[in-house]
Amino acid sequence: MTLRAGVMGFPISHSLSPRLHGYWIRKYDLDASYDAFEVKPETLMETIEGLKRDCAAKGDVFRGCNLTIPLKETIVDQVDVLESAAAEIGAVNTVVVGADDRLFGRNTDGIGFTDNLAAEIDLNRFKGGTALILGAGGAARAILYALAQMGFSKILLSNRTRARAEDLAKSLKKVPIEVADWDMRDALVSTADLIVNTTSLGMRGQPPLQISLKALKAGAAVTDIVYTPLETDLLKDARSGGHIAIDGLGMLLHQAKAGFEAWFGVKPEVDDALRAFVLQGLNGD
Ligand code: ATR
Repeated sequence: MTLRAGVMGFPISHSLSPRLHGYWIRKYDLDASYDAFEVKPETLMETIEGLKRDCAAKGDVFRGCNLTIPLKETIVDQVDVLESAAAEIGAVNTVVVGADDRLFGRNTDGIGFTDNLAAEIDLNRFKGGTALILGAGGAARAILYALAQMGFSKILLSNRTRARAEDLAKSLKKVPIEVADWDMRDALVSTADLIVNTTSLGMRGQPPLQISLKALKAGAAVTDIVYTPLETDLLKDARSGGHIAIDGLGMLLHQAKAGFEAWFGVKPEVDDALRAFVLQGLNGD
């Protein structure tokens, strides 16, 4: 009996998740598989139900899947149980098929973000602190939720399109967000204990992120969700100023742990060997 899972999205060919989960399946020597499925929003539910049936017919079990763009919001109203983080964030990145056949919708992006930071720094330093978040797109939602859970008392949200930041702040009522103009970002740097880039700026092929870290407090940390390149100019700048800089690949690795454990029954480890293996995939090896 093979336990099956996978990642669904459109497009899906660039997803690193099969490489990541495949590594763990081999490492823990499991009778399991994890595949990529190209799925459009209108066929998501029938694809999941079809996989459940097809697997059962072969004596296998379809245990669930990760969802990526554009499916994370599609399924929110369609799962049987929407777990609290997913409800708060308004998006599901992990679906688990329960023993009773019900679909559970989770969001592990926030915990992935938090665990990635926790691997490098003591998060207690952020209790009551201020975070500066750049960008208000899809990736920002889970990160804002995670920051509130970490105990930041003020989250400054700066986005090129201010209205988008305002909508996000309104929809995340439990998160203490103050919206700031995009042009104010340099002026806000001095107040931040943590800066997070959630925009696509600085990614290979995209314009650079322009921000001056000159006024950043000693002991403040900087993290970027961009991981191509792994060491973005933002992180280079932070490191050269003596600050803690945390790259975005770890968020991808850490968000995957909870799904893997729920589907396959093994709590997997994020270590340097996994990181190196996923990085090889990123570099096209
Ligand atoms: P996703 O949902 O995957 O996060 P997105 O919704 O397109 O992607 O969000 C990308 C983020 O990068 C947004 O915050 C976007 O700002 P806008 O809301 O103003 O579009 C930001 N972004 C992209 N290109 C930018 C640029 N040239 N300057 C400033 N911000 C930019």
